Amino acid sequence: MKVLGVNALFHDPAAALVVDGQTVAAAEEERFSRRKHGHRPVPFAAWELPEQAARWCLEQAGMDVSDLDAVTYSFDPTLARPAEALGLHDPWDHLRQTYAHHAPQFLATSLPGLDPAAVRFVRHHVAHAASGALASPYQDADVLVLDGRGECASHLAGRYEGGRLTVHATQELPHSLGLLYEELTEHLGFLRSSDEFKVMAMASYGTPRFHDEIRARVRTDDRGGFSTDPIAWHTMAKPLRPGEEWDQDHADLAASVQARLEEVLLELARWLRRRTGGDRLTLAGGVALNCVANTRLHAESGYDEVWVQPAAGDAGTALGSALHVAAEEGDEIRPMPGADLGRGWSDEEIEAHLRTAQVDFERPADVAVEVAECLAADGVVAWFQGRSEYGPRALGHRSLLAHPGRSANLERLNDVKGREQFRPVAPMVLAERASRIFSRGPLPSPYMLFVHDVAPQWRERIPAVVHVDGTARVQTVDRDGEPLVARMLEAFEQRTGLPVVINTSLNTAGRPMVDDPRDALECFGSAPVSLLAIGPFVVRRRPPGR
Ligand SMILES: [Fe+2]
Repeated sequence: MKVLGVNALFHDPAAALVVDGQTVAAAEEERFSRRKHGHRPVPFAAWELPEQAARWCLEQAGMDVSDLDAVTYSFDPTLARPAEALGLHDPWDHLRQTYAHHAPQFLATSLPGLDPAAVRFVRHHVAHAASGALASPYQDADVLVLDGRGECASHLAGRYEGGRLTVHATQELPHSLGLLYEELTEHLGFLRSSDEFKVMAMASYGTPRFHDEIRARVRTDDRGGFSTDPIAWHTMAKPLRPGEEWDQDHADLAASVQARLEEVLLELARWLRRRTGGDRLTLAGGVALNCVANTRLHAESGYDEVWVQPAAGDAGTALGSALHVAAEEGDEIRPMPGADLGRGWSDEEIEAHLRTAQVDFERPADVAVEVAECLAADGVVAWFQGRSEYGPRALGHRSLLAHPGRSANLERLNDVKGREQFRPVAPMVLAERASRIFSRGPLPSPYMLFVHDVAPQWRERIPAVVHVDGTARVQTVDRDGEPLVARMLEAFEQRTGLPVVINTSLNTAGRPMVDDPRDALECFGSAPVSLLAIGPFVVRRRPPGR
């Protein structure tokens, strides 16, 4: 069965293609439109469909719209209720519902030849759940979904077995851990439903001084759900305007909410495990991008294994909705092969782009060695290899790389990217070396969705990737799955004694990650990067005047 999955309504419009249970392609619209997150998550923008991503998915598979058996849409408007009835203050939410109701016609317009009757609505949290359990290596697994909101709920706890989902608990709106975290994000002067990870980073600078206040407002029940009562944020820390300096109160507030979030997630996971007796937990929904909480779930929930969908936010519901319908129709679902499900280019295509741009480029004997040389000499490298990543993390395909042994490189990279200086950058490490340096979080950790403790003797050696609390958000690199990245890490280790390289996403502030060769050249042209390694080629930054 050929299923095109579409996410459009709230955040991060995306498309994914599943053919006979196999994930063939998945990409976010922002990578094509060059507009971060595709559109703002406001009701007025909810009609915008991931048109370019959807067309590309079909192209990638050499398919036509008429070949599709179904198109899935990761929101079911027949389950929705008016915002007022849900206790939400969202006066234009009815626009969303209208757009969702008409999605089949809209989709038929943007994908000419599509029969609107082929469009199937999938409940939002079921789409998230499938992106967790069905895309995971396990298939039969418990799944916990937490996000801002779906049709009427903000949470689902269930279990997939034999491709069938049993729902054990849901939490109705307005209670929502995702919306709570979004509110705090806004209170701290950041962009809500975009900058939540900045709050998580800030939390490491605080102590949970307001824990009791938050605990009194955010409580679990004995049915696997929870309540979130309104919080008077200003009584604990004054609201910040965008760009305004934060102080200890703000860090302490972030730390308090983070601590309570972790406790509640643990309670929800333990409840689910008691109910199912399961030993493997999968996670999806925007809250599952909280890698600090994920590490606690791994360590303390009682599950033997925890797997997180790399596109845990709404982008992942494009894939999840398609997988769910394919499973319902009896297809045997295969685990997603990796996060590199986006666009890729042949060497010839890349060379043509370089010639068009009229830049000097070389084809070294081994691009991995060339990059390791540059990094060892403290250069910053733009690394563009293979297919782009699905989800918000750069995982060695569209990355900025640097030497982790120079503490100044944290500031340098945050400057290159135009980011706040309190934000950490992350290490990539050869999988077989990881346990020597990193502990507590699960290893291997190929998708950067957990935090790990850095061994004390290594903190001095790789200071640029150690966060203020002594942790790092590791990506482990498997030699078989990522031979080129592994070779680069090995060549870097030979030169420096460090099997670790700084890896952060290849983009500059406010822009989506680089996706195509032209984006890579534009980024290289405008940012102080020493070397662009694109396919087998390298482009060097020439010192000014030469
Ligand atoms: Fe969601």
